[in-house]
Amino acid sequence: MLTIGVLISGRGSNLQAIIDAAARGEITGRIAVVISNKPGALGLERARKADIEALVIISKGKERSDFERELAEALESRGVELVCLAGFMRVLSPYFVRRFKHRVMNIHPALLPSFPGEDAQGQAFAYGVKLTGCTVHFVDEGVDTGQVIVQLPVEVREDDTAETLSARILEQEHKAYPRAIQLYAEGRLQISGRKVRVLPGRK
Ligand code: GRF
Repeated sequence: MLTIGVLISGRGSNLQAIIDAAARGEITGRIAVVISNKPGALGLERARKADIEALVIISKGKERSDFERELAEALESRGVELVCLAGFMRVLSPYFVRRFKHRVMNIHPALLPSFPGEDAQGQAFAYGVKLTGCTVHFVDEGVDTGQVIVQLPVEVREDDTAETLSARILEQEHKAYPRAIQLYAEGRLQISGRKVRVLPGRK
């Protein structure tokens, strides 16, 4: 069983999708801890409801290196093998990324490398693309630049607003993230340079 740690800053709907997938047996892993850098994050409540340890490690007003050391120690002391960023609104420094090399994933609400950074759905909508979606990727030392693991497409409709589009992207996020985590849990993700090769599953 893979030991997972989830980092959040807010609502936690992706966290919920991961919790639910694990409960259904679609992720053969256990979420050992959920950590938020914001005290009031709704996701903390979701964790507690699922009997998962919910921890707050405040980032505000702290040196980045102190915050990340605390974070890394909390994750390591709980035996976390895979760190999943799920609406975690902090960029992790090279120090953290190296300490958890190829063991940190993130979900982004656009088809990377298009529309990295904040408000990806709004960026895509304003640009006028006809197709967008979501990406689960490994976290490297850049912002939304790590190797792509899973992408799911979402068509932009004529009557969409940024909000309706975001909602349909979110539905796909909730499918993509558990899928990527399970591929990792099954040892089927092989990184070679920029690419992630998805190895065939056992029949
Ligand atoms: C999602 O859109 C995710 O792609 C982005 O932040 C949002 C988090 O939503 N990184 P939630 O907290 O999982 O509901």
